Amino acid sequence: MNDSSELVILKLGGSVITDKSAADGVVRKAELLRIAREISGYRGKLIVVHGAGSFGHTYAKKYGLDRKFDPEGGRITHESVKKLSIAVVEALTHFGIRAVAVHPLGCTVCKNGRIESLYLDNLKLMLENGFVPVLHGDVVMDSELGGCVLSGDQILPYLAKALQASRLGLGSAAEGVLGKDGKAVLELTPSNFEEVRGYIGASEDTDVTGGMLGKVWELLNLCKTSCITSHIFNAGKADNVQRFLEGEAIGTRISPDKGN
Ligand SMILES: Nc1ncnc2c1ncn2[C@@H]1O[C@H](COP(=O)(O)OP(=O)(O)OP(=O)(O)O)[C@@H](O)[C@H]1O
Ligand SMILES: [Mg+2]
Repeated sequence: MNDSSELVILKLGGSVITDKSAADGVVRKAELLRIAREISGYRGKLIVVHGAGSFGHTYAKKYGLDRKFDPEGGRITHESVKKLSIAVVEALTHFGIRAVAVHPLGCTVCKNGRIESLYLDNLKLMLENGFVPVLHGDVVMDSELGGCVLSGDQILPYLAKALQASRLGLGSAAEGVLGKDGKAVLELTPSNFEEVRGYIGASEDTDVTGGMLGKVWELLNLCKTSCITSHIFNAGKADNVQRFLEGEAIGTRISPDKGN
């Protein structure tokens, strides 16, 4: 596989690596191991961001963190997503990947739910020295709200811009962004978004950060302020993660309008 010094950022959706319909955190271990094996062939610089799945959204909802910060609920939610982070790091390590957990709570400050600062020096050194940092959706401190839920979907574009990533992939449970006919839209841009907008919704399961619409919103914003293209694809299908890492365009490609 690719051995370039270019950075790839890959999100593992909580809908793939956890049972998102569960009331408590449940890891889909076989899926996680399969994906870890697919990642293990990749030789370039890589950051993995995983979603919170049933380890985060359930608690965030239970303690109303999507409406108002609550320190005890925030602590419980953070402890829960940390457990998922341990499982992800263990699976990656099992296949020889030098994965290390970087918990956003320890290195990020938001303002009204948007990232104000995320400590990058450490991440850059990790990448230069052979680590694969693993971040995740988390509860983080917020200068206006006290604390907030930070989606992995927001971390991804932030890191992509700050670290000038060359490829961005979001592996979720759907084939991509599904449009009118229930099939993945091949290309989504700021100019055709309105045509597809009506078919994009939240998650079928508990998700406090907007499900597919939240994802698309983050990635279209990224397009508007950079020339970075992202891919939303089905990571629940064998070989798709590997195909993405090998440079294949799969699922829905979200890119700036041509000519921009
Ligand atoms: N047009 C659409 N195309 C694809 N999925 C859609 C669409 N509209 C709504 N969805 C829902 O959005 C879900 C994907 O968003 P969700 O946030 O649940 O996934 P995830 O990123 O894998 O999970 P997490 O946020 O825990 O990481 C799909 O499983 C589906 O239920
Ligand atoms: Mg989500």
